[in-house]
Amino acid sequence: MGHVRRVRLKLHLTTMRGIMKDDAARSFDAEAELYDLMPSRRNHPDLELYLELAKQHGGPVLEFACGTGRVLIPCVEVAGEGVGVDLSTGMLDQARENASKQGLSENAAQFVQGDMENVRLGRTFPLVLMGGQPLFFLRTDEALRAALETVHVHLAPGGRFATAVPVPRMATMMAERDRLKFVTEIRHPTTGSRQAVWNYSSFDEVTQVAIRRRIVETLDEDGVVTERQHSVQHIHYRHPAEMQRFIIDAGFRFEGLYGDYRRTPFGNGSEYLVWVARKVDDA
Ligand SMILES: C[S@@+](CC[C@H](N)C(=O)[O-])C[C@H]1O[C@@H](n2cnc3c(N)ncnc32)[C@H](O)[C@@H]1O
Repeated sequence: MGHVRRVRLKLHLTTMRGIMKDDAARSFDAEAELYDLMPSRRNHPDLELYLELAKQHGGPVLEFACGTGRVLIPCVEVAGEGVGVDLSTGMLDQARENASKQGLSENAAQFVQGDMENVRLGRTFPLVLMGGQPLFFLRTDEALRAALETVHVHLAPGGRFATAVPVPRMATMMAERDRLKFVTEIRHPTTGSRQAVWNYSSFDEVTQVAIRRRIVETLDEDGVVTERQHSVQHIHYRHPAEMQRFIIDAGFRFEGLYGDYRRTPFGNGSEYLVWVARKVDDA
């Protein structure tokens, strides 16, 4: 390939990545106000594990893809200090509001807009977390490696990194493929209007990417739809063995590999791959 074509291709790929990032941030901005009310967030089983780690380490705790602070805020309450990084300004605004409602100062709970693929805060932390399973929003191997490097550079020597990914279940994905699925109906926290939330998912077996279209309908009190908003999220499923190789290659040593957040050992039938890993120091 000639030099000019290579440069053009690189420019094109860089532009495409920028557009993909804007789309991802927009889709999370769109759901920021409703996010904490979603059943999957209200009942998420991960908090106890992260609170236990935050208590052991003390502050400051760093969370990448912190969203509305669902995990970081309670961790700051036990550890004294924490920093949350997220791509979406809408999510971060909600996180700041949630932290202030809990009486936390802006110094104790700091929220920074940034991309976990390249953000550099210029300091290190004894504990880095990612609540939920945000690594599956990274769509390429290059993006995943970059995010793991970001975690590595922000960990103090011997520091710990804990998060999880879902274990892909082909049968479930295929059963839900190209089907509209009702998620929940909730009241909008500021307008009080009825909101019906739906997902429409497609799945590409070759790229292991699910495209989840989220549809939020505003209903009047008779159930008539008065507004409909669509947003799209790309979810890259990685198999547990594949994920483990990425983490080891990025300079981590597993301390625990679990199949759920109660620390059940990872095995066949596990819903998640949850890990607590130590940074392997360069020296
Ligand atoms: C499902 S939410 C999880 C939020 C929070 N960790 C929790 O468990 O409640 C995923 C979050 O990841 C963020 N995100 C996605 N890609 C990101 C990236 N490259 N860098 C930083 N944040 C990202 C989104 O903006 C969103 O807030």
